[in-house]
Amino acid sequence: MKTLYQAVVTKTSWITSSYLLLTLNVGVTVSVQAGQFAALQIPGVYLRRPFSIHDADGTTLSFLIKIVGKGTQKLAELKTGDKISVIYPLGNGFILSDKPAVLAGGGCGIAPLLLLAKQLKNKPTVILGGRTKADIVQLDAFAEYAEVKVTTEDGTLGTKGFVTAELTSLSQDTAVYACGPEPMLRALHKLAKEKKFELQLSLEAMMGCGIGACLGCVTDTKKDGHVCVCTEGPVFKAEELVW
Ligand SMILES: Cc1cc2nc3c(=O)[nH]c(=O)nc-3n(C[C@H](O)[C@H](O)[C@H](O)COP(=O)(O)OP(=O)(O)OC[C@H]3O[C@@H](n4cnc5c(N)ncnc54)[C@H](O)[C@@H]3O)c2cc1C
Ligand code: FES
Repeated sequence: MKTLYQAVVTKTSWITSSYLLLTLNVGVTVSVQAGQFAALQIPGVYLRRPFSIHDADGTTLSFLIKIVGKGTQKLAELKTGDKISVIYPLGNGFILSDKPAVLAGGGCGIAPLLLLAKQLKNKPTVILGGRTKADIVQLDAFAEYAEVKVTTEDGTLGTKGFVTAELTSLSQDTAVYACGPEPMLRALHKLAKEKKFELQLSLEAMMGCGIGACLGCVTDTKKDGHVCVCTEGPVFKAEELVW
């Protein structure tokens, strides 16, 4: 159940010039489903900001954060020992299938996939996609739990192209779990319809409250119409969404 915690920053480390790994100690062990997220109250920033839980181990939570604006910049200024208010676990995570798994992440969309790779019974394949080599992070962390493939749009690392380039030979016996920019998710949905593989997507919608109160994060679904991504998602089956 979602709860507010006063967490303590145990580590902040720059992975690249634009990606930060933030580690917090929340003081209690909470069961987290891969794909769930936390709302962090960043000092000096009005609204909480949502971040996928990158890893959860005992009382430790970690977040992979791409610095894009005021809030994420302020997060990067946190020091070991600082306190931060965290509400988690929020939303619904990925439903684990017994089928062979392929995890596809684009940019900071790779964040929820590390915990997912850890939670799956069988070793999955993870495809990390980015525009260029500098966008590909956490290779070693993923390699502990998955077979890792890389795609970059400019070909500076791995296969040249989009993550879909590594998915064209998939069969309907595969379950694909993905998170990333909207065009990537749209392309995956198209491919899933062609190849008939299962596809779950985590949507990184803009969010205000993160707890279902502001209606700032709605998405359109076939069965239930407009729903809040923060409470009904962020993970959805691709075929449930109106594209
Ligand atoms: C469920 C969920 C999980 C997320 N997980 C992660 C994660 O693990 N790691 C991570 O780095 N980011 C994640 N995000 C995105 C993250 O919440 C935003 O990047 C962050 O809130 C931006 O805050 P800011 O104050 O730095 O930027 P702002 O100053 O608020 O915005 C800066 C720029 O980023 C854009 N932006 C803000 N929020 C989003 C968003 N949700 N999607 C796309 N663009 C956005 C704005 O349009 C603006 O152009 C997640 C978002 C959601 C909804
Ligand atoms: S972010 Fe407020 S309802 Fe979802």
